[in-house]
Amino acid sequence: MTVYNFSAGPAMLPPAVMQEAQQEFLDWQQQGASVMEISHRSAPFLALMQQAEHDVRALLNVPHDYDVLFMHGGARGQFAAIAQNFLGDGGQALYLQSGLWSTMAADEAKRFAEVVTMDMVQTCSKTHIKQVVLPALTADLGDFRYVHYCPNETLEGLSIDDELDSPWPVIADMTSCLFERPLNISQFGLIYAGAQKNIGIAGFALVIVRRDMLQLPPLPVASIMDYRITAAHHSIYNTPTTYAVYLAAKIFQWMLAQGGLAYFADVNQRKAELVYAAIDTSLCYRNQVATTHRSRMNVTFQLTDPRQQSAFLAAAEKAGLKALTGHRLVGGCRASMYNAMPLEGAEALVDLMRHFAQTNPTEPVA
Ligand SMILES: Cc1ncc(COP(=O)(O)O)c(C=O)c1O
Repeated sequence: MTVYNFSAGPAMLPPAVMQEAQQEFLDWQQQGASVMEISHRSAPFLALMQQAEHDVRALLNVPHDYDVLFMHGGARGQFAAIAQNFLGDGGQALYLQSGLWSTMAADEAKRFAEVVTMDMVQTCSKTHIKQVVLPALTADLGDFRYVHYCPNETLEGLSIDDELDSPWPVIADMTSCLFERPLNISQFGLIYAGAQKNIGIAGFALVIVRRDMLQLPPLPVASIMDYRITAAHHSIYNTPTTYAVYLAAKIFQWMLAQGGLAYFADVNQRKAELVYAAIDTSLCYRNQVATTHRSRMNVTFQLTDPRQQSAFLAAAEKAGLKALTGHRLVGGCRASMYNAMPLEGAEALVDLMRHFAQTNPTEPVA
């Protein structure tokens, strides 16, 4: 039986990359040692870091005036690092909230500095459908160093594709959507992503920052979380997460070999369309995000009759479709389909959903 892993993160990795890593596990580049066992300052590892940065730039078409950094502490580390790096001298920031992760980013920043929050989501009291309402960002809202938002809310399955029209630099938490599709990097002052979804395994955060942002006055910040120090040392100020970076470097190569982000944008769109169609054409399931803002990476859905949920999840597990339980804070089901998930995985899920709906009919709501 083919198993498909719909985990939201740490998420499935491309099998081809796993196999290659397995072959090289004990002996990398004929060194008689694993990549985990050699110095991060050795020539082969420095070459790997350079190649990884080069491939990130190629995949995302990163402009020359941006630094690409491999930082410690995952995405939540960045929640703090952003405030600490940019909000010295009494600076304030605006945080747009659209779900749990953007709210947690604001809460962490509030520990260090003055933060103003604005809600971007309205929930219809009758249908419970979430609708994104983009606020007008104008200078009379305040004097902000940056505006922060989360273009893909992993828990709620809500995506904001719109470019923000902002008088301040835009910072985006792209943990669950970076590399999903081509991006116009120049609209951002900084973007970041924890690695454990489209990039590889947990252990670091990828940060892409426009160099002029580094002129903003910082608060006291730990050296390893300081963008200026990290940039000056090409992400090797201290020992980087060598194995995680090694795997990420392989995944960047794999993405390029598949055809780059245009290829993934197409497949990701098709996977999401298949699953949303299965939801929308059945009385058995429902999704509560406005169609304009549904995530392609994290498709959330509920069984219309919540009593059927455990039977549905058990049937999925039996069919080899793993990790479809929604996040503990929001409940329901969630199919995370990052780049490593093949189209066949989405098709298998749709087959299961249709079969379950046929064999467990839901009474129409009067
Ligand atoms: C959008 C988003 N932001 C932040 C995080 C937190 O990431 P980390 O565990 O790397 O701190 C996650 C984790 O799932 C996420 O999905």
